[in-house]
Amino acid sequence: MPISPTDFDFVRAMVRKESAIALDPGKEYLVESRLTTLARQLGLVTADQLIEEVRRKPDNGLRYKIVEAMTTNETSFFRDVAPFDALREHVLPDLIARRAAQNSLRIWCGAASTGQEPYSLAMLIREHFPALASWRVEIVATDISREVLDRARTGRYSQLEVNRGLPASMLVKYFEKEGIAWRVKAPLRDMVTFREMNLIGSWTGVDNADIVMMRNVLIYFDVTIKKQILANVRRVLRADGYFMLGSAESTMNIDDKYTRVPVGRTSCYQPLGL
Ligand SMILES: C[S@@+](CC[C@H](N)C(=O)[O-])C[C@H]1O[C@@H](n2cnc3c(N)ncnc32)[C@H](O)[C@@H]1O
Repeated sequence: MPISPTDFDFVRAMVRKESAIALDPGKEYLVESRLTTLARQLGLVTADQLIEEVRRKPDNGLRYKIVEAMTTNETSFFRDVAPFDALREHVLPDLIARRAAQNSLRIWCGAASTGQEPYSLAMLIREHFPALASWRVEIVATDISREVLDRARTGRYSQLEVNRGLPASMLVKYFEKEGIAWRVKAPLRDMVTFREMNLIGSWTGVDNADIVMMRNVLIYFDVTIKKQILANVRRVLRADGYFMLGSAESTMNIDDKYTRVPVGRTSCYQPLGL
């Protein structure tokens, strides 16, 4: 039975309040199918039973599970290629030159999902910037979903996942076989710290960032939230730092205090006034 308009509105308002994810009309099928899966995991049968349950005892744990179930965690290694080329060819060489006195770099991946993005970045650094081995390089990766963060921390990926975007040479070098899965080797895993963080909550431990990657998450938010997040990114990004968005995202027409820096086949953003 399809989800009722009242239940859809209830879930929609709750998800928006807790995560800013906008579930526009037309997404009823998505809510229905994700919540049916969650209901079954929790020993219930249908999505409306689950909604009934959360209405009856508005327990935070259940609310969180529903919000988490409504996140889309699609990702892959070296996703879209061009941003990683930009990091290798322009962003990292520029920052390495600018930070030569401090020998430190701080990178934040907001909305990192199951970890392919920060691990790609860690591999890129190890492969192409051996001099950084003696620097203090912090890669902080955050997401709202505890489930994806738990997976990311293990660094364990299926054959299908490593087949998506990861060059064979890097698989052999940075992963080890564990049963039928592949696991990121400990030295690379240790380069990334995973933490829970809601982009509409408080931003702690991500200030003074040299690079902020926040790819393929703003698309889920409406313009008011996008404005708020882009302003916050300006606050945590160093004046000469770089901000990277997903290929369908831009600061254009949302926040005019950024300048677009075209790099190869992609663009990065920097706070204006550099
Ligand atoms: C499509 S994935 C993007 C993963 C990766 N950045 C990439 O581009 O491949 C979007 C991620 O945003 C996270 N997300 C959604 N709303 C969020 C919020 N309010 N705060 C933090 N993360 C959020 C989801 O849990 C999901 O893992």
